[in-house]
Amino acid sequence: MSRRISGFKPTGPLQLGNYVGAIRPVVRGQHEQPTVAFIADLHALTVQHDPALVQALSREVAGLLLATGIDPGHALLYRQSDVAAHLELHYLLECVTSYGEAHRMIQFKEKGGGGGSRLSLLTYPVLMAADILLHDIEEVPVGNDQRQHVELTRDLAERFNERYGPTFTVPRAVHPAVAARIADLAEPGRKMGKTNASTAGVLFLLDPPDVLRRKVMRAVTDTGTEVVYEPQQRPGVANLLDILGALTDRDPRAVAGDFQGMGYGRLKTAVADAVIATLEPIQGRYRALTDEDIETVLADGAERAAEHADRTVRRARIALGLTGGRRAPAGSPATPVTAGRPR
Ligand code: TYM
Repeated sequence: MSRRISGFKPTGPLQLGNYVGAIRPVVRGQHEQPTVAFIADLHALTVQHDPALVQALSREVAGLLLATGIDPGHALLYRQSDVAAHLELHYLLECVTSYGEAHRMIQFKEKGGGGGSRLSLLTYPVLMAADILLHDIEEVPVGNDQRQHVELTRDLAERFNERYGPTFTVPRAVHPAVAARIADLAEPGRKMGKTNASTAGVLFLLDPPDVLRRKVMRAVTDTGTEVVYEPQQRPGVANLLDILGALTDRDPRAVAGDFQGMGYGRLKTAVADAVIATLEPIQGRYRALTDEDIETVLADGAERAAEHADRTVRRARIALGLTGGRRAPAGSPATPVTAGRPR
C-alpha cells in the first residue's frame, strides 16, 4: 500500500491531458491506497496572475476532481494555500537546494524564466518537493512533464536524510502506461496544456460536446492515409491512438489494428465519440455541485491535511536544529554552545 499524491495548478481550465495523465490514475487507486489530491494554487502565483481568476479556477478544479470521481470519504482533497505547512517546508528545503539545480529545471526555461521573471518561478520545484514530502508519499502519479520535478524531490529528500538524519520518505514518479504525454491536437509536437496560446487543439474537460467533436475532427494528422502507430514519424495519428487507447484501456497499437483499410476520418470519429462519452457524465456531475459543496469538502480536507503535514514539518525542524521543534524540559539548565561542524 503506497501513499500517493497529485497536484493540479489552477492556471487554466483542466484539459484531457490532466485527466488521462494524473486524475484518472489517482481516482482509480483511491480505495486501495491512501491518496492525496490538492489544488496547487500557490504554484499559480509563479507567473502573472489575476487573483479573482485563480480563486475561481481553484474552485473549478476542485469541483472537477470531485466530478471525475475523487471520493472525499477516501482521498484527501484540499487547497494548498489553506495548509501553511507547505510554505514552511518550502523554505526549509530551499536550504538543501543549490541555485544551480533549481536553475537547471526545464520548466523554468520553458516558461521563459530569466532576469525579469518571478523568483518563485525558479524555486517552484522546491515547493513541489515540499508538497510531496509533507505527506510521506511513496508514489506520485503524474504526466511525463513532471518527471524532472519528482527527481529533484528524491534528491532533496535523500540529501536531507543524509545530512540531518532520517526525516523524509523518498518518493518516485509513476506514469500511466498509455498517454503519459498527450499532445496538442493542432500542434502534435507540443504538449496539450491548460495555458497553450491557442485553444484549438486543447480538449477542455468542460468543453461542450459539439466543441470537443469539432476540435477532434480538425486535429492535424500526417501525410499518408493508413492508420499506423508510429509516434516519431506520425505524431498526429499516434496522439489520436494514444487518446483512444487511454480512454478505452487498450494498447494504441491494438487500436490501430481496428482501423486497417479505413481512413483518418473514421479514427477521428471514434476518438470524438470516446472523448464525449467520457466527459459528458463528468460535466453532468460537475454541474450538480454547488460552490458550498466544494468549499465544505476543501475545508474539511485542509484540516485533515494539516494534521499530517504539521507533524512532518516538526520532524524537519527538529532535525535542522530549530528551537520551536523541541522544548527544553522545565527547569533544565541552559547548555553552553560548543561549535559543531556546519552541515
Ligand atoms: P499541472 O497542473 O500542469 O498538471 C496536472 C497534472 O496533469 C499532467 N498533465 C499531463 N499528462 C499527460 N499529458 C498532458 N498533456 C498533460 N498535461 C498535464 C501533469 O503531468 C500533472 O501530473 N507542478 C504540477 C502541480 C504540482 C504537483 C505537486 C503534482 C504541484 N505540486 C506535487 C504532483 C505532486 C503542475 O504544474 O501540474
